[in-house]
Amino acid sequence: MKKIIITLDGYSSCGKSTLARQLARELNYVFIDSGAMYRAITLYFLRQHVDWNNKTEIHKALGEITLDFQFNELTGQADMYLNDENVEALIRDMLVSEHVSEVSAKEEVRSFGVAQQQKMGEKKGIVMDGRDIGTTVFPDAELKIFVTADPAVRVERRFKELYEKNPSITIEEVKSNLEMRDYLDSNREVSPLRMAEDAIVLDNTSMTREEQLQIALGWAKEKMK
Ligand code: DC
Repeated sequence: MKKIIITLDGYSSCGKSTLARQLARELNYVFIDSGAMYRAITLYFLRQHVDWNNKTEIHKALGEITLDFQFNELTGQADMYLNDENVEALIRDMLVSEHVSEVSAKEEVRSFGVAQQQKMGEKKGIVMDGRDIGTTVFPDAELKIFVTADPAVRVERRFKELYEKNPSITIEEVKSNLEMRDYLDSNREVSPLRMAEDAIVLDNTSMTREEQLQIALGWAKEKMK
C-alpha cells in the first residue's frame, strides 16, 4: 500500500484530533496536531509579553522559538515541546485558548507554522489536523476530511474535557470561547478555515469514536491502494 497524506480540518472541538490520532495509530502513521504548534507560539508570546501587533517583535520572537513533538511513553502520545520544555498541558489552558486565534491569524506566524508542517509531511505517512491543512499546507493531499459536529455537541464535549482539569470553568465560558475562535478562524485574511473543494465531509454529531474511525479508515484504505 502506498503512503499518503491525510488532512483533517474543521471548527474547534469537533473531534478532529481524536480522529486523527486514531487514524495514525491504525495506519502506523505520524500524527501532527497543528493547533498545538500555534498554541505553543501563543504561550511563548504571552510569557515574553510579545506585542503581536508589532511585526518586528513577532519576527524576533519567532527566531527564538523551536517547536518539537516528542513521544510520551506514559500516554502513548506525542507531546508538544517549546524550546525543549514539555508544554503539552500548559497550551490547553484557557488563557492560551483566548489568544491563539488572534496570534495564529498573523501572517508571519502562519508562514512559520506552515513551513514546518510542510517539512513534516515530506515523507508522507502523516495525518495532520487543523484549519488550513487541506487548503494551504497540503493542497495535494490524497485524502482530505472536513470534520463537523453540531455546535451544542461541540460545546458539551469541550466542557467535559476542560472540567476534568478545571472544575471552576463554566459552560458559558467554553461556549463563548468556541464561538469567538470559530469566527476568527473563519474570517481571518491569511488562510482562513475553509473546506477544500475536494474534501469529504464527516459529520460526527451522533457517531461514536469507533464509528467515525471505521468510516475514515475505509476512505484512507481506498486512497492507499
Ligand atoms: O485545534 P486547536 O483548537 O487546538 O487550534 C488552536 C487554534 O489554532 C485555533 O483556534 C486556530 C489555530 N489553528 C490554525 O489557525 N491553523 C491550524 N492549522 C490549526 C490551528
